Amino acid sequence: MRVALLGSGRGSNAEAVLRAQQEGRLGKAQVVGIYCDVPDAPMLQLGPKFGTPAFYLDPGPFKTKFSPEQETFWADALTKHQVDLVVLAGFMRVIKAPLLERFAGRIINLHPTLLPAFPGLDGIGQTWRAGAPEGGCTVHWVTAEVDGGKHLDQSRVARGTSDTQESFAQKIHQAEHALLPKVIAELAEKFPQR
Ligand code: GAR
Repeated sequence: MRVALLGSGRGSNAEAVLRAQQEGRLGKAQVVGIYCDVPDAPMLQLGPKFGTPAFYLDPGPFKTKFSPEQETFWADALTKHQVDLVVLAGFMRVIKAPLLERFAGRIINLHPTLLPAFPGLDGIGQTWRAGAPEGGCTVHWVTAEVDGGKHLDQSRVARGTSDTQESFAQKIHQAEHALLPKVIAELAEKFPQR
């Protein structure tokens, strides 16, 4: 199962997936590229570090969505690289047609809350400020509804009495780093042979 990792920033989750692959924990999945919508995102440095092709692709002039032409450009690039599964690992842009149509049922997203609670931006901050006794992370299928697709898996993280927002966020990120590679490996196990 050929996997594309899409991200916009730090790339710690993409790194967790690449490390899992290096350590043989990604099963039948193979990361074929890192695709970034921010030209100087640290995530792009994972390319040389892990020997994986890494690309900055222009998303167009908007902040949180693609321009229609550039969304076609991204869909064409992923099609050309014969991508089977698109993984949104910290990708801060809404996916619509034509990318969503071209890869219908083949895009997953990682979100740092126990969805359906706290969709949208700053999920960890939302969880913290609400005083929720626990947070966590969710991997779900991507549909036209933002953070609304069917769940693949979740991890729960308790909020300790001595936690700060920073330590709580740290625990959630650790949970994400374990959850995302696990879900990808499980999907690869079920993926039809090419
Ligand atoms: C992760 O916590 C991910 O769940 C979140 O962005 C962070 C990216 O970190 N994604 C979203 O909020 C998507 N709505 P990373 O760049 O270090 O992987």
